[in-house]
Order: sequence, then structure tokens, then C-alpha cells
Amino acid sequence: MGIMGGKRGIVTGVLNDRSYAWFIAKQILEAGGECIYTFLPDEKGKMERRVRGAIKELGDEDPWLTPCNVSQDEDFNTVFNKVASDFGSIDFIVHAIAFADRQFLQPGKFHQTTRQAWNQALEISAYSLLAMGQRAPDVMPDGGSIISMSYYGGEKVVPGYNVMGVAKAALEHTTRYLAFELGDKNIRVNTISGGPLRTLAASAVGGIAEMFENQENKSSLRRNIKGEEAGKTAAYLLSDLASGVTGETIHVDAGYSIVGV
Ligand SMILES: NC(=O)c1ccc[n+]([C@@H]2O[C@H](COP(=O)([O-])OP(=O)(O)OC[C@H]3O[C@@H](n4cnc5c(N)ncnc54)[C@H](O)[C@@H]3O)[C@@H](O)[C@H]2O)c1
Repeated sequence: MGIMGGKRGIVTGVLNDRSYAWFIAKQILEAGGECIYTFLPDEKGKMERRVRGAIKELGDEDPWLTPCNVSQDEDFNTVFNKVASDFGSIDFIVHAIAFADRQFLQPGKFHQTTRQAWNQALEISAYSLLAMGQRAPDVMPDGGSIISMSYYGGEKVVPGYNVMGVAKAALEHTTRYLAFELGDKNIRVNTISGGPLRTLAASAVGGIAEMFENQENKSSLRRNIKGEEAGKTAAYLLSDLASGVTGETIHVDAGYSIVGV
């Protein structure tokens, strides 16, 4: 049995077969775990078809898949109630969601961020983790593990990452506060700070080309990372191998963040 054998949990954020969430789900499945999924709904149902297609590539023809727009409390309530009634309890939650208005994700545009763009970015990309942590004890009576995805731009200024960097700083610190408060329920909360990956969300960031270039030239391993590398660390954090690890931000960035040039 793999390290995720007997474990079932929610994976959010699968959009296509390039999404970080897709690579995470793949590693969970390969390690013997079971994934249930949520997606951001749209009126025409285009998103659901797309997400179903990506999950099918993971080998699941008939997945448990429910809409959840993380800016809606009602959606969270529906999802968690449905999980409780369909499964009773689960073992993990993967948060792999972020959004910011691309107009403000350009080098030099941070100081022009509007109140609305700021609130939207922080609500969707950071508050959503808190909203999950708030509801987690209801579906994790025996404890569990929650992870989310961050980026180095939450620690240091990365031109173009802008308000998303502020949201990632909030996400990483939300991880620590949640880890502390949920610790007595045996629920662990950690974040993976992943290197740049060619996804739809990444394409909204002005300056992403430099991020890939810097990563290749300046990281300790002198290369970009593969989605499956974050996926493997995710499987570790969600498994009992990481039973003593909580409140951490673990870099899966080929040693980029330790370099000071
Ligand atoms: N790609 C990178 O370079 C990189 C690097 C480090 C961290 N990350 C983080 O990884 C996570 C996943 O992003 P990705 O790069 O795989 O891109 P992606 O575009 O594949 O995934 C982003 C997901 O967020 C979802 N989403 C956006 N707004 C939502 C909302 N209101 N409700 C529900 N879902 C919503 C999208 O539907 C999509 O599934 C994000 O937190 C991102 O910041 C990405």
C-alpha cells in the first residue's frame, strides 16, 4: 500500500493537465489515495467540462465533482455538507487556488492596485484557506492534513507578482495561525512554495518569463521545477510520513529561495 493508502480528500484548483492541483492529485492517486474534486463554476458549464477532461486523464471517468466558487460562503457550506453526507469524514484538503486582476500584475503597477483588486485577490487567494480551515474539523473528526500553494513573491519583491505577493504572504501566515489553532484537533496545515510552472494562472503574471529565466540561471539546482516535484512533496505532507510537520512553508523551488544574488 502506498503512503496515501486509505486516505480520501478534497482537491481544489484542477483546471487542466498543467495545473499544480493536477500534479498533486496524480501523486496522491499513485500513492494509493482517493481524490474528490471542486471547480469554479461558470454559466455555460465550460469549466466543468474542462475539469472533467483533466480528471479523466488522471484515470477517473466518474469523479465526485462539485462546484465551489471560493468567494461564496454558501458554496463552501454546500461542499462541506455534501462531503459530510456522502463520506462522513475525509483525511485531507488541497488548496490550489489563486486569482488577481491581471491589470495589476505588471511590473511597476503594484502601487496602482485598487481597493477592489486588493480585496478580490486576498479573498480568493488567501481568505479561502481560512474558510476551509474553519470547516475542516466538521469533516476531519480524527484529524487530517491541509496544504496550499504559495510562491517566493510572498516573501520577497518579485516585479510583476505584486498584489499576488501580498496575498501569498497572507496565505503563508494564515497557514501558521490555522496550524496553531487546529493543532489540538490533530489537523496539520502546511504550504508548499513552488517554483514557476507554465499554468493559466501563471500566464496572467507580467514578468513570468524572467521568473523562469532567473529560476533556471540562479536556483541552486540551475533549473526549473516539474509539477510532479511539488506533487510528491504534497503527497508527503498529506501522508502520515509528515505526522510531526505543521505550520511550515516548504520550498519546492530547486533551491531558488536560499540564494541571495
Ligand atoms: N504556476 C506557478 O508558477 C505557481 C507557482 C507557485 C504557486 N502557484 C500557485 O499554485 C496554485 C494553483 O495555480 P496554478 O498555477 O496551478 O494555475 P491554474 O490556473 O491551473 O489553477 C488556478 C485555479 O484557481 C481556480 N480559481 C480561481 N478563482 C477561483 C474561485 N473564485 N473559486 C474557485 N476556484 C478558483 C481556477 O479555476 C484554477 O483551477 C495557486 O495558488 C498559484 O498561486 C503557482
